[in-house]
Amino acid sequence: MGGSGEKPQLIVDGKRLDGRAFDELRPIRIEADVLKNAEGSAYLEWGDNKVLAAVYGPKEAQPKHIADPNRAIIKCRYQMAPFSSLEEHGRTGPNRRAIEISKVTKEVFENVILLDQFPGSEIDIFVEVLQSDGGTRAAGITAAAVALASSGIPMRDIPYAVSAGRIGEHMVLDVNKIEDNYSDADMPVAIAPRSGDMLLLQMDGALTKEQVSEGLAMVRKAGETIVRAQREALEAKYR
Ligand code: CDP
Repeated sequence: MGGSGEKPQLIVDGKRLDGRAFDELRPIRIEADVLKNAEGSAYLEWGDNKVLAAVYGPKEAQPKHIADPNRAIIKCRYQMAPFSSLEEHGRTGPNRRAIEISKVTKEVFENVILLDQFPGSEIDIFVEVLQSDGGTRAAGITAAAVALASSGIPMRDIPYAVSAGRIGEHMVLDVNKIEDNYSDADMPVAIAPRSGDMLLLQMDGALTKEQVSEGLAMVRKAGETIVRAQREALEAKYR
């Protein structure tokens, strides 16, 4: 969405520009526990996205007045490194987009972490995008889930996220940057795979009910692959 200039043809001979089928994910590789000083961490490469996630806590909530006596609070900071894309990153500090993505990421994890086990404390989640190529909020959530699991913080479920989009009449999975720029709709989704609960659903652009269902079916099917990558990363460290 939001591309300027002449729209490239995103589908040629039934394939996407990078050769993928409509329902095909970009390759995903995850490594757990990559940072010495964090309680939990993960490094994820997903297509041309490169993301680091780090988790600290639970620790005493600071400043004190934000503490909740009944449960832990989550702080989340998503950030794109200034060198992560060709676009302008002149400003320092979080922009509106980073604040939004931090908020939705936090909300995903508020629904799976057993917060009431840690009253008065905080859990900090950091997502640093080192290289971006569309779908970084999904990549960040998927990486942060592995970082949280590797920290040992108890969760009901290990969420994953991926985006579905629409190019003309076709629903496509895992929208990359050029597709995001020129597609007709983009729908990032986060799922708790064990319960099947949907933890995030955003939409940019217009989709019919049928297209939403088709996109969600693609997301859930792809979940098998993403969850396997998450599990393998954790097993490689903790077997
Ligand atoms: O990354 P995601 O798709 O979750 O979020 P978006 O806001 O839809 O951005 C799509 C893509 O645009 C990002 O993944 C980046 O590749 C790029 N982008 C950028 O390079 N610089 C920005 N300030 C914002 C977005």
